Amino acid sequence: RTVYVNGEYVPETEAKVSIFDRAFLMADGVYEVTSVIDGKLVDFEGHAVRLERSLNELEMRNPVTKDELLQIHRDLIEKNDLTEGGIYLQITRGAPADRDFAWPNPDETPSGIVLFTFAKNLVEMPSVKTGIKVISIEDIRWGRRDIKTVQLLYPSMGKMMAKKAGCDDAWMVEDGFVTEGTSNNAYIVKGNKIITRALSNDILHGITRAAVLRFAAEAQMEVEERNFTIEEAQAADEAFITSATTFVQPVVEIDGAQVGEGVPGKLALRLREIYIEESM
Ligand code: PDD
Repeated sequence: RTVYVNGEYVPETEAKVSIFDRAFLMADGVYEVTSVIDGKLVDFEGHAVRLERSLNELEMRNPVTKDELLQIHRDLIEKNDLTEGGIYLQITRGAPADRDFAWPNPDETPSGIVLFTFAKNLVEMPSVKTGIKVISIEDIRWGRRDIKTVQLLYPSMGKMMAKKAGCDDAWMVEDGFVTEGTSNNAYIVKGNKIITRALSNDILHGITRAAVLRFAAEAQMEVEERNFTIEEAQAADEAFITSATTFVQPVVEIDGAQVGEGVPGKLALRLREIYIEESM
């Protein structure tokens, strides 16, 4: 693959970053994952806006303009002949001369930027036909999950715990209520109502979530943004997740209990269809 590192396009084997990079030493970096269907970016604008927000919240400087960022995304799609998959983007606070907890003046931060593509079948996913199984785990992440940082140790561990349990993912629970999946937003359906946690610092403000809720409203589906428990989810008619790398993905089992009929829900599948149609 050809990747982008600090202003240059290079083969991935030649890409280099400093061992003093703060993302490497302190997870001092933010990221975005934008999906690509048919060689085209899905909701670049949404991801660019969220990136800017993450950077602002952390007083981190963006080394490129939004137009430059779009151009880099497009260049990488072309250079790598990417038709379906995504682009990973990471901005770090940069690499100071040495390891230090305190960072220099934000204006002088030598922010670093890295992008790479990945190929993935997003439209035809086998897991959509079967649905996925999730376990619940305690949400012990920090309190600013609205910022998309590269601090992903606990979500990675959660995913591994799920695999060990023979499942696909984990839903995190705080004070008895589901926050979100390890790398996706969580939803249940009861009657014809879609229920998902309201936005706050407790969860990532998913770009796919925003689109799906908009499409749901346009299709006259009822949406309620509120907390729900694992017990309520297990007793729901349907459950699903959303993210840039899964779109809408049905959940059929939670902590060993079948959701609804134990097959992908009608409403989730309909939303997935609409999402893909609108994104093509
Ligand atoms: N994850 N919640 C968390 C904790 C996430 O990491 C993600 C995205 C989402 C969904 O956001 P969006 O719809 O904007 O992709 C929710 C990306 C895909 C990842 O880490 O690979």
